[in-house]
Amino acid sequence: MSRTAHAGAQRLGRIPPYLFAEIDRKVQEKKRAGVDVISLGIGDPDLPTPKRIVSVLQEAAADPANHRYPSYFGLAELREAIAGWYRERFNVDLDASSEILPTLGSKDGISHVPLALVDPGDVVLAPDPGYTVYATGAIMAGADPYVMPLTIENDWLPDLDAIPSDVADRARLMWLNYPNNPTAAVAGREFLARAVDFCRLHEIVLCHDAPYSEIAFDGYRPLSLFEIPGAREVGLEFHSLSKTFNMTGWRIGWVCGRADLVGLIGQLKTNIDSGIFQAVQWAAIEALNGGEEETHAACEIYARRHRLVADTLNTIGWNIKPPRATFYVWAPVPAGYDSIGFAGHVLDEVGVNITPGVGFGVHGEGYFRLSVTAPDARLEEAMTRLRTLKL
Ligand SMILES: Cc1ncc(COP(=O)(O)O)c(C=O)c1O
Repeated sequence: MSRTAHAGAQRLGRIPPYLFAEIDRKVQEKKRAGVDVISLGIGDPDLPTPKRIVSVLQEAAADPANHRYPSYFGLAELREAIAGWYRERFNVDLDASSEILPTLGSKDGISHVPLALVDPGDVVLAPDPGYTVYATGAIMAGADPYVMPLTIENDWLPDLDAIPSDVADRARLMWLNYPNNPTAAVAGREFLARAVDFCRLHEIVLCHDAPYSEIAFDGYRPLSLFEIPGAREVGLEFHSLSKTFNMTGWRIGWVCGRADLVGLIGQLKTNIDSGIFQAVQWAAIEALNGGEEETHAACEIYARRHRLVADTLNTIGWNIKPPRATFYVWAPVPAGYDSIGFAGHVLDEVGVNITPGVGFGVHGEGYFRLSVTAPDARLEEAMTRLRTLKL
């Protein structure tokens, strides 16, 4: 009997405990005790997938042609639809056969990229606070994540000048994510151009995770990395249908960019999975070809909810503005609390579940994240309860 097999792989031991599982356990406990918990903890749209997309899935699911193994690299029609969407949305031309690879959601692409592109001992630059998969994906590949702190002083952008040159020289990947989870920050052209220059100089693959590119308000249009000159030479961009079309459960997204890098990820994925259920791919084609009306309508709902949350928090002592993008509110915890303590207090006192900032990395300490993806009535009830919160 091997001791290591029973203890689990060492690489799993390097992954920090998943705070969200612990929070979920606490929420379940409350629910069992009869508390009507309102969850604002997860970024999972409450709005349904548009009907036209569901109808295509229903029809495609009944067609035996879609019951067999799908292609590893996605239907040509899907890659064409993605290329068309990119052209329409960002005025960027991608080659559908070599520069686009559909994935089982962007998490699939993000977690597997280090396995395809980095070796043990390489450095992966990851923002903190940030989506935890950037760092855990690096650890799974035996690489060393190096934290790029995001701070309010720097508008939640990493300070590229603060990365030591020996670290930059060992780095093989840099993760950026704008519009950002959890901070709701956005990145302008100037910052993205500096990141492209930095990555070109140090021969780093710049991975831009952009699942919130369509969740933006008041006319703001987030950029694609590939709108930046030179980005095509160093970059990969990750997109998802999850947030844009309320399709988190469907598991479909894509990675695109430099053909040789996309090819390496494709090579890895042929050994790991067997493609995306073809009926889901046909539904995704319908989603991407069907225009932006539903997404804009959803954004209006999120914008209204953001105003409600900002108004509520501002009447009980905060001073925040609704964000320009994402469905997240990122706000400081009151004096006297750390982020886990404050989230626990809110859950215990008013039965509302929010996410402690430290769950996104040590630099998220002192903040909490709240998602406006709860039905209007539940969000309103949560705000009514928050107004009674004793701080
Ligand atoms: C920044 C970021 N990247 C990726 C994902 C994963 O999305 P998907 O459903 O496409 O795997 C999420 C989901 O919350 C996210 O917040």
